Amino acid sequence: HVLLSPNLSTCHGSLTDEGRPIYCCPPKRESDEPFIDFQFPDNTSLVRIRRPAQKVDKEYIAKYNRALSIMKSLPYDDPRSFWRQADVHCVFCSGAYNQLHSNHLLKIHRSWLFFPWHRMMLYFHERILGSLIGDDTFALPFWNWDNPKGMLIPDMYLNGSFYDSQRESAHLPPQVADINFDYVERGLGPEDQIEANIAFMYHQMVSGAKKTELFMGCPYKAGEEGFCDGPGTIELAPHNALHTWVGNTQNPERENLGAFYSAAKDPVFYAHHANIDRLWDVWTGLRGNKAEINDPDWLDSYFYFYDEKSQNVRIKIRDVLDMTKLRYTYEPIDNPWLNARP
Ligand code: C2O
Repeated sequence: HVLLSPNLSTCHGSLTDEGRPIYCCPPKRESDEPFIDFQFPDNTSLVRIRRPAQKVDKEYIAKYNRALSIMKSLPYDDPRSFWRQADVHCVFCSGAYNQLHSNHLLKIHRSWLFFPWHRMMLYFHERILGSLIGDDTFALPFWNWDNPKGMLIPDMYLNGSFYDSQRESAHLPPQVADINFDYVERGLGPEDQIEANIAFMYHQMVSGAKKTELFMGCPYKAGEEGFCDGPGTIELAPHNALHTWVGNTQNPERENLGAFYSAAKDPVFYAHHANIDRLWDVWTGLRGNKAEINDPDWLDSYFYFYDEKSQNVRIKIRDVLDMTKLRYTYEPIDNPWLNARP
């Protein structure tokens, strides 16, 4: 029985969302590299607490800024380099690897791989950042765009190593985000946009997400049936919608954030995904924290990431279903859309 996983010896040129050729493979052939199996962090280590970006203080921002600028300055052949990690996202989003034992491309968007794969990416990214400044409690912030206080690009992302020149200038603060943006400006005033966002969140998290597959995305399995192409509610929007909304309309595919191949080059990507990761946990909690998917094809699918010691780690979806074991959590915060039943 073949599980879904990448064949590391197959990295090849791939295509952007709009079909333009790109190349984002790692510099050496990973197939020659040994890997280790994922191990949970020590269960006595301190839990990293991810906080909303609108609430963090100056010291935190300075610390993260330092870690990120070190990460950005690492040479490209160092797998901990920011640009290498951005390209790992590119590799997995654009189908640069074939699946193991087949010629089908492996892609991690638009299916049930979406939540767990990005959780893995953030897990390693966060720990690398912490290790670069010798802080093993370092935690990423989350962009709290489902809360009226967080519905604009967080201020901290406008400066220092968080800055990205390739964002849509009309969408910088104080513009309130349209979290269901679909290429057309709605022209709503701030109050109306906030209200629309809250109602939309209720739909994506509650009324429109009552079945596991609607929220988690479709079952994507190895082999002939191939790519199922059915994103979950949150993946489609706010996730995709905000990628598009932040990216620069002057660029062919709204790079950076607006195109998957370039998205992880914008530091706000990690805060955006931290919120998505948090909402996965919120949704699971709303349903009594039961295991939503018991299919071994999902649980045992595996991927590879480099850790803070530059070791190539093989990690399965089943490894990332319990945040407590991964030693991070989210600061509890009000989810104002929860009571927004129309
Ligand atoms: Cu892998 Cu927000 O994209």
